[in-house]
Amino acid sequence: MLIRLVYTSRTLDILTPAALESILASSRKNNPLNGITGVLCTNGSVFLQMLEGGRKEVNETYNRIAKDPRHQDVQLLHFSEVTERKFAGWSMGKVSFDRINMAILLKHSARPVLDPYSVSGAVSVALLEDLMATANVGS
Ligand SMILES: Cc1cc2nc3c(=O)[nH]c(=O)nc-3n(C[C@H](O)[C@H](O)[C@H](O)COP(=O)(O)O)c2cc1C
Repeated sequence: MLIRLVYTSRTLDILTPAALESILASSRKNNPLNGITGVLCTNGSVFLQMLEGGRKEVNETYNRIAKDPRHQDVQLLHFSEVTERKFAGWSMGKVSFDRINMAILLKHSARPVLDPYSVSGAVSVALLEDLMATANVGS
């Protein structure tokens, strides 16, 4: 059974590129072993991450991430059983919001800012889908 989970969190301080790369490196090491795929978005102060995979593996990975001291205010936004993955090609894709077209943010929210705390989980899922469709997901 496949599960899709989306959560948001806040960085402790301004996120350095090295700190982000270290998070992505451990994701890309662990996720293939666990059959997890997904995407991690950040604007330097907020994270928005989607995890896809088996229910047990997604739960274990999310519980591990939620305890990570490199972020805070972890809030679960969306959890659903799915029949297929959206990000099958990514062990953990990266989206940096400083390069994002403001129009994509405005399509889904009142202001052109990344604030998953203030929108529904469905809106965050739709935003992630649009980012993939417009080739904003990188490695
Ligand atoms: C925002 C954020 C996202 C993360 N995403 C993942 C992930 O997708 N997969 C993963 O294994 N670890 C992820 N981590 C790291 C885990 O919290 C944890 O440090 C890591 O899995 C420990 O494994 P390691 O000792 O092999 O690096 C993330 C951490 C943060 C702060």
